[in-house]
Amino acid sequence: MITTRELTFQYDEGGVALKNIQMDLNKGNIIGIIGVNGSGKSTLFMNMVGVLRPTSGTVLYNNEPIKYDRKSLRELRKKVGIVFQDPDKQIFYSKVYEDVAFALRNLGFDESEVKKRVENSLKSVGAMDFKDKPIHFLSHGQKKRVAIASVLAMQNEIILFDEPTAGLDPKSVKAIEKIIQHISENHTKVVISSHDMDLIYHLCDYIYVLDAGCILREGQTEEVFTKDSVMCDVGLAEPWLVKVHKHMGLPLFKREEDLYAYYNEGGR
Ligand SMILES: Nc1ncnc2c1ncn2[C@@H]1O[C@H](COP(=O)(O)OP(=O)(O)OP(=O)(O)O)[C@@H](O)[C@H]1O
Ligand SMILES: [Mg+2]
Repeated sequence: MITTRELTFQYDEGGVALKNIQMDLNKGNIIGIIGVNGSGKSTLFMNMVGVLRPTSGTVLYNNEPIKYDRKSLRELRKKVGIVFQDPDKQIFYSKVYEDVAFALRNLGFDESEVKKRVENSLKSVGAMDFKDKPIHFLSHGQKKRVAIASVLAMQNEIILFDEPTAGLDPKSVKAIEKIIQHISENHTKVVISSHDMDLIYHLCDYIYVLDAGCILREGQTEEVFTKDSVMCDVGLAEPWLVKVHKHMGLPLFKREEDLYAYYNEGGR
């Protein structure tokens, strides 16, 4: 599992993007990393998969500092997958099917296993309809789904999703939410960065709040969202179910269905 020790990162031409980050992904099954634009979420993810190397401090995988030679990084990427914020960073091949198959073929899986994995992952993101299309004909949301499929196909131990629902329509957001829940139930650790506080609130059991490259708060989801004014302090919205709880005196519900059931059972 990934942990970080006093992770600090500074871009060559920029300020310090991460300062002394201590994180332990053992603390939850679906972990949320939240913070406003520029707070360091993507930089953190790229340090966790070894795309960027800490200026000081360490990223550890199963208690061992990660190594940055090609072979070690290749091994790390078999365990830790990342869905980049920008799908164009993820997609290398010209056709959807080929793109999702690419990394699997690289790892030496035989074609029947490749086919099975590619088709399953494209199905789960609802991308089978455009599996034979050239990537450059796809919309942003469709590319995003292909990028997610190519990571799902790898069957990693941990998947980092950087803004997985940004730019997606509501139906696709729900589909991604379901996929994340499903892979988590199948024992894949998930880390999500997002500005969508409702998504984070529904899915995550543990939250880190980043502010200007520092961890401002961390804790169980309900605790972080209800205890104090942290969301206002860092410029993020409160999940609507938290607002209902705070302003209407209702219990705190994790999902909207729970609120409706409470209402319909006469709990109002
Ligand atoms: N390639 C780069 N070179 C220099 N500075 C950078 C670079 N990429 C990001 N930064 C800076 O590092 C800080 C953190 O950026 P980062 O992209 O990690 O934030 P973020 O939380 O992912 O933001 P967003 O919500 O917009 O995706 C910002 O101040 C940003 O300007
Ligand atoms: Mg980002």
